[in-house]
Amino acid sequence: MRWLITLGTLLMAAATQTAAAGPLDLRVITFNIRYAAPGDNYEKPWSTRGPVVIDWVSETTANATAAGAVPVVGMQEVLHEQLVDITAGLGSAWSYIGTGRDDGKEAGEYCPIFYQPDQVKLLNTTQKWLSKTPDVPSYWPGAGSRRYVLVAVFEDQATGTRFIAANTHLDNASSEARSEGVKIVLSAIRDVQTHWGPDLPVTLSGDFNSEPGQDAYAGMIADGYLQDSYTLADEQARFGPYETYTGFVPDEIPDVSARIDFIWVGPDATWDVTRYEVVDNDVDGVYMSDHRPVFVDITL
Ligand SMILES: *[C@@H]1O[C@H](CO)[C@@H](O)[C@H](O)[C@H]1NC(C)=O
Ligand SMILES: *[C@@H]1O[C@H](CO)[C@@H](O)[C@H](O)[C@H]1NC(C)=O
Ligand SMILES: *[C@@H]1O[C@H](CO)[C@@H](O)[C@H](O)[C@H]1NC(C)=O
Repeated sequence: MRWLITLGTLLMAAATQTAAAGPLDLRVITFNIRYAAPGDNYEKPWSTRGPVVIDWVSETTANATAAGAVPVVGMQEVLHEQLVDITAGLGSAWSYIGTGRDDGKEAGEYCPIFYQPDQVKLLNTTQKWLSKTPDVPSYWPGAGSRRYVLVAVFEDQATGTRFIAANTHLDNASSEARSEGVKIVLSAIRDVQTHWGPDLPVTLSGDFNSEPGQDAYAGMIADGYLQDSYTLADEQARFGPYETYTGFVPDEIPDVSARIDFIWVGPDATWDVTRYEVVDNDVDGVYMSDHRPVFVDITL
């Protein structure tokens, strides 16, 4: 009988191997939801915006799941009260990682990553502040706020495939903080790769407060480790408007809009970008945020 059991074990191992080599489809979202400010003029309070944000994320991720893709959601500017509303609104199928940036607990804005444990197993979380003391909540000298990058290692439950998802929000006040921040972000991701597997595919979502050609974006391009999913997507695979930041201003008011929210993928030609979309933030007259959400559908 022993050979039968051995054969069975071998066959199971072979099946696991095949599954692990299977394709992985992700829908990665980046969304700066705007902190819960009191509201003003066209900016509605969070009590009005929140349900619209939650509905959009629920529907977009449910659509991804229905299409066989695993949703991973990076957000920025999430205050604790907003995090509480979002976790309640998304429901118990979701978990999140990330802390408030000011104390590593609940104070200040979070850059959380939301994921579904049924779909992906969380293997590791690393959070590094974008400062000279990255292990504790801290500022880059001259930065407007404490900033961090969150780096997670996930394993797809269906295929066993592992990948890294990172999320960040670079400084709005200091160009140097953004440029140096990019270096810390990339070195944090590389460190995780060193420990968890040099071949792991990577996604990096975030509000870079920098347009193509400017400081942080230029630093990403100069490094070359990850690519802008917008650039990788074929023209026919790009949907929606170009700019991702709009402010809370109707179209007729002078244009402040810019593309500053990005989803970077890599390294090398790991991912195929099948869809890149910037989504309208004006939902029936309510601005979800002063940023538009951006999402990509990517395949290994
Ligand atoms: C979800 O998919 C449906 C059907 O394709 C589409 O009409 C709807 O706009 C999608 N929702 C979002 C939020 O993308
Ligand atoms: C940066 O953002 C903070 C908080 O939103 C704001 O108070 C500050 O004025 C901004 N600074 C710059 C230079 O835009
Ligand atoms: C995550 O992985 C890093 C190595 O990349 C390791 O130093 C750290 O202890 C791990 N964290 C946890 C919570 O396991």
